[in-house]
Order: sequence, then structure tokens, then C-alpha cells
Amino acid sequence: MFDLSTLFAAARASGRAVPVILDGDPGHDDAIGWMLAKASPLLDIRAVTSCAGNQTLEKTTYNARRICALLGIDAPIAMGLHHPLLSDPITAGNIHGQSGLDGPRLPEPVGELSPLTAVELMAKVLRESAEPVVIVVTGPETNVAALLLAHPELKPKIAGISVMGGGIAYGNWTAAAEFNILVDPEAAEIVFSSGLPVQMCGLDVTERALIFPEDFERIRAVDNGVARVVAEWLDFFYRFHRTLGYAGAPVHDPCAIASLLHPELFTIREMHVAIETRGEYCRGTTVGDTSGRLGPANARCVMDVDRDGFAALLLDAVKAYNGWEVPQA
Ligand code: BDR
Ligand code: CA
Repeated sequence: MFDLSTLFAAARASGRAVPVILDGDPGHDDAIGWMLAKASPLLDIRAVTSCAGNQTLEKTTYNARRICALLGIDAPIAMGLHHPLLSDPITAGNIHGQSGLDGPRLPEPVGELSPLTAVELMAKVLRESAEPVVIVVTGPETNVAALLLAHPELKPKIAGISVMGGGIAYGNWTAAAEFNILVDPEAAEIVFSSGLPVQMCGLDVTERALIFPEDFERIRAVDNGVARVVAEWLDFFYRFHRTLGYAGAPVHDPCAIASLLHPELFTIREMHVAIETRGEYCRGTTVGDTSGRLGPANARCVMDVDRDGFAALLLDAVKAYNGWEVPQA
């Protein structure tokens, strides 16, 4: 099975950045993932697209634009679909707040929102790119599924899709389903059955990517404009998760970036992942099969992480913003 680790190893060896589209529903952990992406010379961010998920599309789009202003991401930003393909929307204001990104003040958006839809912008980036592009999805997979349905001819221009979503062992929104997949199971089904290389960071790994107060205090001490905001986001995320009994903040979405850049920190297993789109209790479940009963492997599932290495990666990434003047909030 072609794997994205091979692509990134080649990029590292040649010193050429991999073109990437960031699609998400920011969200504190999406934002921290994008911080990691912008800090890496291995990634060339060609577009940012918003999807409905943690909050309404209007809110996640506004957040995406504010995050890009904070981080100095100057790629075009486009708004995705308002609704999952077939389901009613679900939001997660209980976790991310009314704005979808409650906590520290952020700069206002710089520049205009793209007049294109997310699907149109993704298609344009793919068409214009000389090399295949990696799509990183840290929200429900609605936009990417719509892209695949509308433009099957562009599949050869997609190097692979790295998703945060699902969980082989358990869920977090229902007993069996994780939030991003539950919001739009039909979209996830389209992505996982696309035949494209899919790397999945489910709860199996992301709930081991725990960040503790000593980690975010180290980040805060870096004391640049981005580090201070990231420390606040982590603090916010930590305080919420403590109320649920977590030992630390499970920093889900950055795993979808970190596992591309540093696969040596992660344990990855190939398997077939089927998406349950029906079921009274299990809609949105990612069913992992290594027996061959459900078919050959269609995904590389990230199952574990070197937690200390991951925390060190976040710390190093915020240091990359030393000298960057964050626009006034
Ligand atoms: C996922 O749900 C969202 O709340 C987070 O941003 C993450 O993408 C974790 O289940
Ligand atoms: Ca997210």
C-alpha cells in the first residue's frame, strides 16, 4: 500500500516541500494542527478550507481566517458546505465554546475570503499543482467527499488524505463513534472507499497525545505572539477535558499533521476501515478489520504515539514563530 510516510521521506531527502490543503472546523486542536503545519518547511500550504463541525460554518470560517492571520498563512481560504451530505449538523459548542474557538483574543482576518467554494478552490489547487497534493482533514469529511464526487478526474492529483477521525477501539460522541465521523458518516465512507491513500488518526492515538500543564507552560515561556495563544488554547482544552476525567488535553487534530512529518513518533497499522452508516448504536463507527473479511487494507491507522516526542514537537513548532509579528488583535 502506498504510504504518505514514503512521500514525506522523499520530500525530506530532496528538500522539497509537499503541497497541502488544510480542511477543518477550527476548533482549538485544528488551530494547533495548522500552527504545526505552517511551522514546517516540509509543507507548502496551498489552500485552507472550512467545514461545519465544531461550530456552524460561518463561525468555523471566521475562525479559520483569524487563525491564518495569527500564523501568517497567506494561502486562499474558502468556505465549505453548510451541512453534512445527508445528516443534520451536530456542533460541539460544549467543547470549543460559542465562537468555536473561545479563549484568547485573536487578530481579525487579513484579506478577503475566496469567492470560490471549498470544492472549487480544492479543485483549482489540484489542477494547477505540478505534483500531487496531500489533503489534511481535521473536521467532518464533507468537503473532501464532495470534491471526490464532483471531480473524480482529479483523484490522480491527490497524493493522499490524512484525517483526524474515528477510533478503532471506541468513540467519544457516542459509545462507538467519534465526533468527526459521526457528523458525516456518508462523507467518511466516500473518503475511505476512494482508493486513495488514507492515513487515519483516530482516538486510539489522539487520546494518547495528551498535553499537560507543564507542557503548555513550556510553550507559554517561549513568549512569542503565537506561543502565548497556543498555550492559552491548550490551557482551555485542558480545563475542559479535566472536567471529563482526562489526565491531560487530548490534542487530536495535530496528530494528522505530526504523523506525516514525524512518522517515527507514531505506531501505524494498515487495515481495512469500514464506516458504519446505519445502526441504532453504531452509526459513525470506524470498524477496523485486519482479517481480510471486509476487504484489503484501505487505510493506515495511527494507533500510538511517543507522547514526550509529540509534546517536544509542539514546543519546537511554536519556536519557529520567534520574530513573527502577529497582527494586532
Ligand atoms: C475531533 O472533534 C473535534 O471537536 C476536534 O476538533 C477533533 O477534530 C475529536 O473528536
Ligand atoms: Ca477538528
